[in-house]
Amino acid sequence: MKKIFIASDHAGYNLKNSVISKLKKIIDLGPKSSDSVDYPDFAKKLSKKVAANKGSFGILICGTGVGMSMVANKQRGIRAVLAHNEYVGVMGRKHNDANVLCMGARVIGPSLGLEIVKWFLSTEFEGGRHERRVEMFE
Ligand code: RB5
Repeated sequence: MKKIFIASDHAGYNLKNSVISKLKKIIDLGPKSSDSVDYPDFAKKLSKKVAANKGSFGILICGTGVGMSMVANKQRGIRAVLAHNEYVGVMGRKHNDANVLCMGARVIGPSLGLEIVKWFLSTEFEGGRHERRVEMFE
């Protein structure tokens, strides 16, 4: 079974908990409280796990999703999509084979966040012409 990892910073802590409450088997990489932390630490921690577990997915949540996506996309093997609607999350999977979803808890509410997660995790990469383009990333 594909592993799914999640991490946040303090700003994303509540939305992280909402996602965890719906996805029982998700692996929580922290933080364990809403005390202030540095999002790059958690983006790097999660990226290492996703890169090391072939076919796994990651979810990163901060205030805007911007910092998390910037850091995640600098890590080898990570293709992170910053999505605040279902369409971008779905297209990130279909065309870009995104393996990490980033969201901003100060931008969207928990209901939309959960929908984006649901669509992201259930959408397959289309391959074909997109495969060649994704291979060009590395
Ligand atoms: C924390 O205040 C905030 O800067 C962080 O959660 C995130 O939005 C950074 O991109």
